[in-house]
Amino acid sequence: MSRRVYLDNAATTPVRQEVLEAMLPFLTSNFGNPSSIHQEGRTTRAAIEGARKLVASLIGASTGEIFFTSGGTESNNMAIKCAVSDMGVKRIITSPAEHHCVKHSVEHLKSMDMVQVDMVKVDQYALPDFDHLEELLAASDTPTLVTIMHANNELGSMLDMHQLSALCKKYGAYLHSDTVQTVGHFPINVQQTPIDFMSGAAHKFYGPKGIGFIYINSRCHIHPFIDGGSQERNMRAGTENSSGIVGLAKAMQLAYAELEEDTAHISSLKEYMRQEILSLCPEAYINGHPENSLYTVLNVSFPPGPYADLMIMSLDIAGISVSGGSACSSGAESQSHVLNAIGHPTDRKAVRFSLSRNTTREDIDYAVEQLAGILSAGVHVLS
Ligand SMILES: Cc1ncc(COP(=O)(O)O)c(C=O)c1O
Repeated sequence: MSRRVYLDNAATTPVRQEVLEAMLPFLTSNFGNPSSIHQEGRTTRAAIEGARKLVASLIGASTGEIFFTSGGTESNNMAIKCAVSDMGVKRIITSPAEHHCVKHSVEHLKSMDMVQVDMVKVDQYALPDFDHLEELLAASDTPTLVTIMHANNELGSMLDMHQLSALCKKYGAYLHSDTVQTVGHFPINVQQTPIDFMSGAAHKFYGPKGIGFIYINSRCHIHPFIDGGSQERNMRAGTENSSGIVGLAKAMQLAYAELEEDTAHISSLKEYMRQEILSLCPEAYINGHPENSLYTVLNVSFPPGPYADLMIMSLDIAGISVSGGSACSSGAESQSHVLNAIGHPTDRKAVRFSLSRNTTREDIDYAVEQLAGILSAGVHVLS
């Protein structure tokens, strides 16, 4: 089989063996419905509550503030839509670089005339302009939700959550942050950095797909987002994804236990890759903040050339898996809204390489070698 190098870990990561092993009993012998009162049900219920306790402890939350969902999309929809329907929020301040699940949730509420929406300006890294945010917050007493992501999934740029949290507190605004790319990769503590809603998705930190959580600060009172049975303490009906929940908690526990070594390993490979690519192609540059950034994401802007349109496909054929933007928009012809927000020239090609704890130096060397071939083939076609 030809070699493959997977560099699309911001889209999703492989499930760790230990996670799979923790999950398996809940797909086989421990299959009970957690709502059932018999022994099989109680065993599953205990595992779910253990997982909830673990997740809560890893972010400094109370157990009652964690609700399991189907992933980041659902958590973000729930926070934004319930803040408006149940908490009297009449204005949303957001940024033009949010993930589609936030962007489209806000647009939906606006199209229904349920909220006023103010856009905060972003800089060339897609990070919010805090002076502008303060101006917007100070300009109105309308009950407001600020929804701005912790780290951008396309560019990697990461904001200062303490600053964002302090600003929202100063003006009495609720704060939701899409933390899907940072949970399991950076320490997060909701005691030290108050936040009203945050989201997590297991598949971004070596857990299974289709399972996530939402943290809801106990001061926020919302109604069920999905109606039905009384699961998730009446907040989210439907039989729980018990194996997924156990897998999420295990993956998050391992991610935080090994945070330091994984951060060091991945950061050094990202820096190595950055240098290799820039020396291979001096006209390339890095999109995203040079320091305040996800250590997993390297978004490179390649100069215009005949290779540009087919770059991601050419890399795939050469055995390298990458994205052109977020997974949801890969394959789309047009430049992503995030690249548009930072004014990325449309004739250049942005490629997101995203690394994991499994990535090796040999993987990077192979990817850069294949990239060299693609870039030089482009030059060849030109000449
Ligand atoms: C920043 C961000 N938010 C939300 C999501 C959506 O998460 P999920 O795929 O678990 O629904 C993603 C996943 O791509 C993401 O990167």
